Amino acid sequence: MTQSTQAQVALVTGAAQGLGFHIASRLFAAGFRVVLTDVNGEAAKKAALSLDPEGINAIACELNIARKADFEAALQFAVTKFGALQVLVNNAAVTKATPVMDISPEEFNEVVNINLGGVFVGCQVFGKYMAEQGYGRIINMASLAGQNGGTSTGAHYAASKGGILTLTKVFAKELASKGVTVNAVAPGPIDSPMVTALVPEDRLPTLLGAIPVGRLGNADFIGDVVVQFARPEAYFTTGTTWDVNGGLFMR
Ligand SMILES: NC(=O)c1ccc[n+]([C@@H]2O[C@H](COP(=O)([O-])OP(=O)(O)OC[C@H]3O[C@@H](n4cnc5c(N)ncnc54)[C@H](O)[C@@H]3O)[C@@H](O)[C@H]2O)c1
Repeated sequence: MTQSTQAQVALVTGAAQGLGFHIASRLFAAGFRVVLTDVNGEAAKKAALSLDPEGINAIACELNIARKADFEAALQFAVTKFGALQVLVNNAAVTKATPVMDISPEEFNEVVNINLGGVFVGCQVFGKYMAEQGYGRIINMASLAGQNGGTSTGAHYAASKGGILTLTKVFAKELASKGVTVNAVAPGPIDSPMVTALVPEDRLPTLLGAIPVGRLGNADFIGDVVVQFARPEAYFTTGTTWDVNGGLFMR
């Protein structure tokens, strides 16, 4: 199927702040109509209005990635508003930094259920729809922590991100013949509210000293990486992970 990005529709989870918002804004700047979703529906609305004050090409809806019914309702919402949907960005996640020996089974399961379970259900619900349409692009936000075990983040977070790399391959294989690609982005520490919250100011020089390029990553660039995966021309790239980590992990 021939597709152009003109008027294509992308839905981003966890888009009210941080990388999700940068991803939505770069997709919007590239000509996509965007649905900004978040567990915090009011914050998602504000974020959407900041992109399009008229609320025409950037709209919002509440979506808790822990709930399959929310994914189904958000898909229905996007299709009703815009007629179709071509791109899903599974961005939302909870980040906890509890030391590994202090994580209770309940806390472990909660983080893995939200982060990994959310990507699983998102790929399943949207992947089915995209396969029926014969076209789609799914981009999953993983993390360097899923590749190297993490430094500032918890074992549950890191394990969920490792699982996302695997699920990306599973769904890529399942959907390849249907015109649907599934790829992952694995950022290292990005200049973002999450890193500011996790890394106290006095520890920042140590963190920067450990990054080969000596700087935090750029959130808009993460958005541009997502745009590349979201393009129709990206049809030949599936099941991959794009590392954006300042040289902290090399294959
Ligand atoms: N910031 C970084 O340096 C960095 C590095 C590697 C990977 N990542 C990944 O990028 C993604 C975004 O990270 P961020 O730094 O912007 O995080 P963030 O905590 O700043 O933002 C996460 C957003 O997701 C929302 N959210 C939380 N739980 C949700 C749920 N159950 N359902 C729907 N929305 C929910 C929050 O309300 C928030 O708006 C995550 O997947 C994270 O693991 C970030």
